[in-house]
Amino acid sequence: MSADSLPHSMLITADSAELRRSVAAARHAGQLIGCVPTMGALHAGHVSLMQQARAECDFVIATLFVNPTQFGPTEDLQKYPRPFEADRDKCRAAGVDLLFHPDLSSMYPTGFVTFVEVDGLTARWEGAVRPTHFRGVTTVVAKLLNLTQPDKAYFGQKDFQQQAIIRRMSRDLDLPTEIVTCPTVRDPDGLALSSRNAYLSPTERASGLSLHRALCLAREKVRAGETNLDAIRLAMRAEMEQTPGVAVDYATIADPDSLVELSEPQPRMVALVAARVGPTRLIDNLLIP
Ligand code: PAJ
Repeated sequence: MSADSLPHSMLITADSAELRRSVAAARHAGQLIGCVPTMGALHAGHVSLMQQARAECDFVIATLFVNPTQFGPTEDLQKYPRPFEADRDKCRAAGVDLLFHPDLSSMYPTGFVTFVEVDGLTARWEGAVRPTHFRGVTTVVAKLLNLTQPDKAYFGQKDFQQQAIIRRMSRDLDLPTEIVTCPTVRDPDGLALSSRNAYLSPTERASGLSLHRALCLAREKVRAGETNLDAIRLAMRAEMEQTPGVAVDYATIADPDSLVELSEPQPRMVALVAARVGPTRLIDNLLIP
């Protein structure tokens, strides 16, 4: 067996002291360190983040932690899929060097009371529907970046508001990590990959395609010269609402940094949609250059 065909060796640890020792050794060896935070139930979208980190960094860390503070009281924390062995194998196949999967009590020890909050950006869109979600995200991401101390951390464009909020946190708190946003990976028919797609029946999945259709419609209208953004928003909403089983939460065109809804077209815009399909909530977005 040649060295190339040997399975990639990956350290798996739940222990933050062991994580810190490995990171210190990599740093001491002059390696560029990349980190991909995840909640597991990994699919090709997560794997693309790991591959980009692998291509750009010497030492790649993936974190796997289903973070309870970002789930609302009525959300799917208990039933969130946790296929650990499959996730581990996907990390290894993607060339991850270290898989960090801390347990709940080490991340949130008794007496944990400190949270990171990004004002304003977190109040709109997803934040309006999930009021405590982003403070859970920013808190856990700040913790994971402190634990892993990466040069670069990778996030998906799929969760557009999340990456915008993490960028703002990083800037405002002078975090030393570069935040990298990676393109959304989709099924061939356009559905953005999501761990929550596993909850969709075949009929619901077909209805879920209306989100991508609404985004493409917005892009086409802008390309065709439509300048009335309200008209585009109505068309996006109609595209989703005419699909059976789809309840629209929002359909908008916003500024990609502030996420404020736009009244006039500008060079960079983002179309954002969210809808419930049966019991499952789906989000998607498209940058409109
Ligand atoms: P999770 O939903 O597991 O997603 C982990 C990362 O994968 C996020 O950065 C997300 O944007 C990215 N991702 C998900 N679907 C994608 C797709 N189809 N294409 C490209 N990237 C995709 O997002 C979280 O976990 C958590 O909030 C976390 C940041 C880990 C904090 O707990």
